[in-house]
Amino acid sequence: MKHTKFITLLSLFFLIVSCSNESTSGGPSLGSGNTGNDGDNNNGQSESIYYSPQYSLKEVASYYVGVGATWSRLTSSGSNYGSIVGREFNSITAGNAMKGSVTNPETIEEYNWEPGDEIINFAEENNQRVHGHTLIWHNQYPGWIDSFSGTDEQFEAAVEKYVKDVVSHYKGKVASWDVVNEALESNGSLRTNSPFYQRMGEDYIKKVFTWAREADPDVKLFYNDYSLASTSSKTQGVVNLVNSLKDAGVDIDGIGLQMHIRVDYPTNSTITSNVKTLTDTGLLIHFSELDVIVNDNGSLSELTYNAALDQKNKYKDVFEIYDETVPDDQKFGVTIWGVRDIDSWLNPNMNNHSDWPLLFGLEYEYKIAHEGIIEALKD
Ligand code: XIL
Repeated sequence: MKHTKFITLLSLFFLIVSCSNESTSGGPSLGSGNTGNDGDNNNGQSESIYYSPQYSLKEVASYYVGVGATWSRLTSSGSNYGSIVGREFNSITAGNAMKGSVTNPETIEEYNWEPGDEIINFAEENNQRVHGHTLIWHNQYPGWIDSFSGTDEQFEAAVEKYVKDVVSHYKGKVASWDVVNEALESNGSLRTNSPFYQRMGEDYIKKVFTWAREADPDVKLFYNDYSLASTSSKTQGVVNLVNSLKDAGVDIDGIGLQMHIRVDYPTNSTITSNVKTLTDTGLLIHFSELDVIVNDNGSLSELTYNAALDQKNKYKDVFEIYDETVPDDQKFGVTIWGVRDIDSWLNPNMNNHSDWPLLFGLEYEYKIAHEGIIEALKD
């Protein structure tokens, strides 16, 4: 009796499940950013924004695949966040933990190493490379910079101390540093709204690279910036900057392209030609902060299957471009700027609407964007 009741209930369950699949078949289905959609389309293919992975990124990749990570989430015990970061990636960049605003928040004398050290510990436990981000930037710099009351010479000496202290602290623990971040305008000229430019003059970049090298002879030194995949005038500005460092005998090992891109911009051919220009410098190439915006105009109130599919294809294209355009010995790796969509720096977001730029859903579901990368890496 009990048994018959169970079978009836089970049949009812399957009936409901099959009806709900049918109701979403035949058209693009709306999957909420949190729950996804598991309907079937006319080809019998799944139309879910999520999928079940067979491989992790790091096990398929022949170069480093990294993540921009938040230290407090990494270290909270039993966290899915930590498991995903450990399982999927073999390189970590601290999202904020190694920026001046965190390491040197108030006075020149006082350092706060704990957040960055937690990242290092996590990476050591999980056999991951650490990329340091970032020493000198016109945002999130040390707290004392704005209130510095000494002369320009004293300011420069204080910056030298800060750069050398930070590089020395992480010596042997980080593989590389974004030494200077976002120093150029879109037209390739030097950004002037930076306290470092204003107080140290246009040679500040050369000086900072020199100090970083003095503090650690082995660490790889990068210049990092945005819009390098989209804007050839800026890309050319980076080439000029690299040449001016080389001409002055200043060491630089690599270029970081942030790669905050959209599903529809820049085009693959534009990305390819800019990456080629930078690759021709002979330096290491890092896609350092990749995310793919799907909702730039704010028209979506949830992530649709079509948008998720466009995003999957763009992630796949970007990894294919990296693989094909950058010679193996210049591949420093590709780093994705965060774990779940909700963790992204673009959420709650800059323009008052949500976006879903990353690889994982709210409950750490694998988005099909992850599958796109796996497909590119396995090709
Ligand atoms: C972002 C972080 O992800 C956020 O958590 C923080 O509030 C602001 O900075 N370019 C960079 C990164 O080089 O350091 C920025 O990271 C994103 C833009």
